[in-house]
Amino acid sequence: MDLDTPTQKIKQRRSMFEQHIGFKLDAIMQQILNARDSYTSKHCERVLSLAEAIGHKLQLNEHEMVVLTLSAGFHDIGKIGIPDHILLKPGKLEPQEYEIIKTHPQIGANILRSLGNPLLDEVAECILHHHEYWDGSGYPGGLSREQIPLISQIISVVDAYDAMTTTRTYRAGATQEEALKVIQKGSGKHFCPNIVDVLTKLSHEIAAG
Ligand SMILES: [Fe+2]
Repeated sequence: MDLDTPTQKIKQRRSMFEQHIGFKLDAIMQQILNARDSYTSKHCERVLSLAEAIGHKLQLNEHEMVVLTLSAGFHDIGKIGIPDHILLKPGKLEPQEYEIIKTHPQIGANILRSLGNPLLDEVAECILHHHEYWDGSGYPGGLSREQIPLISQIISVVDAYDAMTTTRTYRAGATQEEALKVIQKGSGKHFCPNIVDVLTKLSHEIAAG
């Protein structure tokens, strides 16, 4: 799905973030993530762009869009706390390695909460739950349906879509159509049906130009 790289609007929101926090925390966090793992950094940027498009379709208000932008852009910031041999391992992880990867939402939430800022506390909550599944089979909380913050539900769908369509050293990426089919199959199981519908409409609109 071809979406613009972060737009002027996102930059404006980020400067709002700077107003809330008092310094360019977003730029610092982005530099840290990029230095640690450039794949995750680029993945977060793509997730941010597509999540923002879905947020607009869902007619989120300005505050929700700020939280969505920051949460999507830094949803995997906790991966900076995952050891290299697991984070950068090509191919399938062993069960015990997967258990360590599963700690990244909590690590990310802890990083954001440590600043004691109400906006970042909201972002932390959304980051914490970005791997929950609609049917309650996700982590870390095993939350289901509306228990999962709406912004986390959006990130969950976009995260899966981007991970599938990206080519890695150990496998070719799926086509957008293939990835969309997998997401649609997971509608009502892993993913919120409403958000899957929005992603489907958005992809059709983009394909139609
Ligand atoms: Fe993640």
